[in-house]
Amino acid sequence: MDIIFDEVTSQVLTELEKTQKEFWNVPRKTGVLLNTFVKMMNAQSVLEIGTSNGYSGIWIAKALQETGGKLTTIEFYESRQSVAIENFKKCGVYSHIRPVLGSACDAIMDFADEEKFDFVFIDANKREYKEYFKLVRPHLTDKAMIVADNIISHADKVQPFIDAIDADKEFQYTILEVPGGILTAYRG
Ligand SMILES: C[S@@+](CC[C@H](N)C(=O)[O-])C[C@H]1O[C@@H](n2cnc3c(N)ncnc32)[C@H](O)[C@@H]1O
Repeated sequence: MDIIFDEVTSQVLTELEKTQKEFWNVPRKTGVLLNTFVKMMNAQSVLEIGTSNGYSGIWIAKALQETGGKLTTIEFYESRQSVAIENFKKCGVYSHIRPVLGSACDAIMDFADEEKFDFVFIDANKREYKEYFKLVRPHLTDKAMIVADNIISHADKVQPFIDAIDADKEFQYTILEVPGGILTAYRG
């Protein structure tokens, strides 16, 4: 059975899928996986690096409505962030969102030391994935999950990130062959 959302959310997701290429959104399959993982992890504090127009964020935030958690989502461009905020509002999930505007590395460096995330979705500048991992690692809970997109489609650019995860003894990881390819890593 497909995931069933309220009518407005279903319509918003279907509309956003028509401009998927323009806004570099994850495929629907990855959206379903993100929603499922967040629920399975009972995630309370999720970080998304790369908001775009909010498509993946909606899938995550719908799961957070069930877990009672919050999504911090970072986007460089104000024009995209404002579209995302509108989409979050339409889908009734904005109370679960903390939008952060700016460069991802700077934004993560600005987080307070005590800020912790139990789920992180990486989907911004492919060449910076390794840096995101390095910066976000001190902010992960003991049993955190990381999902990163475009692992197969941008294999060369993300290889340093894969090597860093591979060398990290605290994480078990695998690569799933959904369109674009995602890496899932679990610290536990
Ligand atoms: C692949 S899109 C994200 C798609 C989104 N996760 C989804 O599936 O709906 C990447 C987004 O990250 C933003 N971005 C790229 N580099 C960034 C950076 N260094 N800091 C913050 N945002 C960045 C881009 O502007 C773009 O909107």
